[in-house]
Amino acid sequence: MIETKNLTKHYGDLAALVNLNLNIQTGDIFGFIGPNGAGKTTTMRILATLLEPTSGQAFIDSYDVTKAGQKVRRCVGYMPDFMGVYDDLKVFEYLEFFAAAFNIERKKRKSIVEGVLELTDLQSKSTTAVDSLSRGMQQRLGLARVLIHDPKVLILDEPASGLDPRARIEIRELLRELKRMNKTIMISSHILSELEEICNQVGIIESGKLVFSGTMDEIKQRMGILSRVKVRVADQPQQAVELLIALPQIQNATIVGDHIAVTFNEGADGDGIIARTLVLGNIDVISLEPEQLKLDDAFLQLTKGIVN
Ligand SMILES: Nc1ncnc2c1ncn2[C@@H]1O[C@H](COP(=O)(O)OP(=O)(O)OP(=O)(O)O)[C@@H](O)[C@H]1O
Ligand SMILES: [Mg+2]
Repeated sequence: MIETKNLTKHYGDLAALVNLNLNIQTGDIFGFIGPNGAGKTTTMRILATLLEPTSGQAFIDSYDVTKAGQKVRRCVGYMPDFMGVYDDLKVFEYLEFFAAAFNIERKKRKSIVEGVLELTDLQSKSTTAVDSLSRGMQQRLGLARVLIHDPKVLILDEPASGLDPRARIEIRELLRELKRMNKTIMISSHILSELEEICNQVGIIESGKLVFSGTMDEIKQRMGILSRVKVRVADQPQQAVELLIALPQIQNATIVGDHIAVTFNEGADGDGIIARTLVLGNIDVISLEPEQLKLDDAFLQLTKGIVN
């Protein structure tokens, strides 16, 4: 659904994108991850027909973005990293304006606007002025806007930036809903772990080059990332450590402060085996907490911090 072939973009002397090759299938949620200045926005703007590549090609639904701009714009909803501010417009007027811009018939506009307001949970804000919405609501309005013409492909440039945890979860839910509607979604972020739950594919970009592309599991395998779990037990921590270390799946288990840090061997995962082993050993388990940091560690290892 989204394909780039040796896509390259220079800004003067600066090579912002170098031979980028992406292949995103229908229904994929593709996380596009990289540090500041890596080239994410540049790629997304080219795909949205807002920027001409220096060389290489990009296709959306088999349409060449530089040759069939009109067709591409019909099937893409692009949400930029910063949205323009529109004074004196109410939420529904703003959305009706974009419906008109997409040549949606006047008599259909109202029901379409109501539909996207419902999907983004903004019905109660329909008559609120756009510029008085909170950041999270503006992000949701931005999503409502890109859904107006029912595009097959969504290109979302950091839709979760600047949002509080609750708003992030809400956006995530909304993205899941869009996935159920079989949209193909490309979403950028600086943070790998932020996208872990929603993306089936990820591409990591650094200094205009793709340094990794694949599934989240492939990242973990490639990096030889060992899953880690924090285990808290009610008593006998030393005995717990001995039981765990004896398991073939477990590489190491050590007492660190108030918990036991358990590291799995490559490819092994899951806290079920830990819980079963300890319970069978008559040790009360208080909590099992998978280590969240591991993906971000992987990201830091994959990208060396080279910035354009
Ligand atoms: N209009 C422009 N003119 C000149 N250089 C630009 C322009 N837009 C982007 N760049 C440069 O191109 C490189 C890639 O920028 P881009 O905005 O694509 O990165 P990004 O991955 O989106 O970064 P961020 O995470 O900060 O949003 C950067 O070095 C940036 O300074
Ligand atoms: Mg950007």
